Amino acid sequence: MRSDKEARVYLKEVIDRIPRIPLAHLPTPLDHCPRLSKQLGGPHIYLKRDDCTGLAFGGNKTRQLEFVMADAQQKGADSIITGAATQSNLCRQTVAAARRLGMKPYLILVHGVKGPLMQGNLLLDHLLDAEVTIVEGDDFAILPPLFQQKADELRRQGRKPYIFNLFNDTTSLAAVAYVDAFLELTNQLEEKGLRADYLYLSAFNITPAGLALAARFLDSDIKIVGITPAKLPEDRPTDIARIANSTARLLGLEVSFKPEEIINYDIYVGEKYGVPTSEGVEAIKLLAEVEGILLDPVYTGKAMACLIDHIRQGKVKKGETVVFLHTGGTPALFAYSSDLGLSPQK
Ligand SMILES: Cc1ncc(COP(=O)(O)O)c(C=O)c1O
Repeated sequence: MRSDKEARVYLKEVIDRIPRIPLAHLPTPLDHCPRLSKQLGGPHIYLKRDDCTGLAFGGNKTRQLEFVMADAQQKGADSIITGAATQSNLCRQTVAAARRLGMKPYLILVHGVKGPLMQGNLLLDHLLDAEVTIVEGDDFAILPPLFQQKADELRRQGRKPYIFNLFNDTTSLAAVAYVDAFLELTNQLEEKGLRADYLYLSAFNITPAGLALAARFLDSDIKIVGITPAKLPEDRPTDIARIANSTARLLGLEVSFKPEEIINYDIYVGEKYGVPTSEGVEAIKLLAEVEGILLDPVYTGKAMACLIDHIRQGKVKKGETVVFLHTGGTPALFAYSSDLGLSPQK
């Protein structure tokens, strides 16, 4: 039987074998939110502040980019291609990482809900001087062939492009970052003498996959609760379990997941990805008012709305301890002023 400590040391060792470039300010703080706990009359709530990873306003993708950009550098890339919606946090952080490493960033963005509005993340993409192309629609699935076209065009010019594609194997490399983040959190909880019952987060797939893998390997009984920000063709547990399994293979860990072992809620999305819900806006305002902490309208606001709902329903009980992973996304707030009821001009 290996001890907890041995398991952590081993996990750190296997993570450290994967090439990595430091981009994030780590460890991110673990902040106690006593006023929020009191206001909700429920559990002890802590925020793991991955909104403070530091790269061009930070967020969870910065951790992931440490591994992805190392891979790009090893492959000799001089340019990075990625894409999502115009208010994408992934894109903003990728562009900033590319600039930090002297690579040229190219974005192909679907119009989505906010389109070419020069605010929030899109404004920062331009400020970081990415080449931005916006295409009609809001389905990310149209992007991979466009990434390939762009890569071919750059290759014809003698460039060496690297595609950060959320639909291929880069995902397991990116998920290693959240295996590492779970270790970081475990150490912080131990230092504070805490035992957490739950870890809530906004989750597409990569972040919860890494967390789930580390939690399983370390035999942690913390329940990881993901809240999806979008309705997607494939159910989240299937996608997350697949990425957790491919990440386990990458790290050489004998761990395997079935979709039914992954907890993920898809009922807090509201109308669709990128459209705020009234409960999400309520959550943003509550955190701002009682803790001076900013959430975002697309991801963390909706995830916090789920946690609040679960506390109100008694699913998460008084006396229990919850860590909420703040995955960032706050620059999008500036593109959402009217959705927040705060139009600059009436
Ligand atoms: C603020 C924020 N939270 C959560 C997520 C979901 O992260 P992942 O795709 O790693 O699950 C994203 C991804 O774009 C994000 O920008």
